[in-house]
Amino acid sequence: MLNKKIKIAIAGIGTVGKGLIDLLSKYKNKEIKIEITAIASRKKQEFKGKIFNKTVFFNDAQKLLKFHNYDILVELIGGEKGVSKDIVFNALREKKNVVTANKALVSKFWNQLHTLMNKNNCSLKYEAAVAGGIPIIKVVDEFLVSNKITKIYGILNGTSNYILSNMLSHKKEFESILIEAQKLGYAESDPRFDIDGTDTAHKLSILSSLAFGCYNISLRIENEGIENVDLQDLQIADSLGYKIKLLGLTELKNKNIKNFVYPCLVSKDSFIAKVDGVYNGIVVESNFCKKSCFVGEGAGARPTATSVLSDIISLSTRRNNSCRKSSKFHYEETSLQSRFGSYYLRFTTYDKPGVISGIANQFKTFNISMKSMLQKEIKVGNPNDATIVITTHDCLEKNMMRALKEINKLNFIRKKTVYFRIENFK
Ligand SMILES: NC(=O)c1ccc[n+]([C@@H]2O[C@H](COP(=O)([O-])OP(=O)(O)OC[C@H]3O[C@@H](n4cnc5c(N)ncnc54)[C@H](OP(=O)(O)O)[C@@H]3O)[C@@H](O)[C@H]2O)c1
Repeated sequence: MLNKKIKIAIAGIGTVGKGLIDLLSKYKNKEIKIEITAIASRKKQEFKGKIFNKTVFFNDAQKLLKFHNYDILVELIGGEKGVSKDIVFNALREKKNVVTANKALVSKFWNQLHTLMNKNNCSLKYEAAVAGGIPIIKVVDEFLVSNKITKIYGILNGTSNYILSNMLSHKKEFESILIEAQKLGYAESDPRFDIDGTDTAHKLSILSSLAFGCYNISLRIENEGIENVDLQDLQIADSLGYKIKLLGLTELKNKNIKNFVYPCLVSKDSFIAKVDGVYNGIVVESNFCKKSCFVGEGAGARPTATSVLSDIISLSTRRNNSCRKSSKFHYEETSLQSRFGSYYLRFTTYDKPGVISGIANQFKTFNISMKSMLQKEIKVGNPNDATIVITTHDCLEKNMMRALKEINKLNFIRKKTVYFRIENFK
């Protein structure tokens, strides 16, 4: 019998904090007794039950800076600066362990946090920071520790996946599905970071840093969001055998790292395309396991609290430190300009002769070859407009952008050309 007692101080009782308290009040483990010694909650809330018998309550998490009666600080406030940063760094300086769900903080201060942990022989666990209901941090850090990871990609944001899935299934535009998602609690009142790709970039940065043991790269991740995805592109992609998903992708090849976040077309046959609604889906490619696929709820009180409690238990029972070690190599980051892949292009043009040859001429100049072409009878807007959709074979992004710049200047082009990258996952 282990017979361990662990004291935790919880900062922030919002969605995840409430979920954790709910889970703690139901969780029974004879070998590990979890005692909540402190709770910092800005709002006045009622805390009833035996689990609060020995709890001290604070109305501001700053007060935890002077509170020492705990083994693990559980930070559930969020944000990369302010009180959450202060208390996390303070706890690690005091050689205490920390569990957090804060992707913004962990991705931004990856280096500093790891340096402090190593120096003070204490630990920071952050399973809840990436894909709440999928134990992806443990997979990358522990299960795949013996494998060389080459690539991780997936849907890391449930809100944007809900919006894209429901736009297509309900035949509605972005704005109206976003309002529905907010009413149902799947999107926050300020959903900016979910839809512009920032949230995905934070999570991708954590996965990339952990998998490849490299230095913090969150600020350099090029991210594009889903705010400009039109229903007609989802429908055309669907008719071509694709879905549009907001993807985070990190890949290490010959000491070059790719870290991209963008909405892209993926084949309907792929694992990722089948992950719909608020679910997250992640694929990890490694040398011995080849391809490991995971799906689960990405957020919400219950899955996220499950991740938080799993980290608390893991710190109480087993090792503290990360299994994967930081690499001493310096990796070069590959820019999007050097992406080599295929593209989906939607042109809005005047319906007149010479349009196709005009586009084809620019393709020739920039070494781009067409894979398929269709002219759609979509009569939205001006009835004299034509919609032409082209998919290409693989080409350099730099060339594609230069070609589009020239094409958009041609006199038959009615609107800026819409493009999406196509990811051909095997
Ligand atoms: N929600 C999810 O599904 C989810 C999933 C994965 C990860 N996360 C991460 O989990 C963390 C918490 O998210 P959440 O959704 O639970 O956020 P939330 O609902 O906004 O909860 C945060 C709580 O912290 C409180 N707080 C702010 N400043 C404080 C202070 N100085 N002292 C004490 N309490 C303070 C807030 O109080 P007020 O209400 O007064 O502002 C709020 O109740 C974030 O890092 C988030 O990124 C969330």
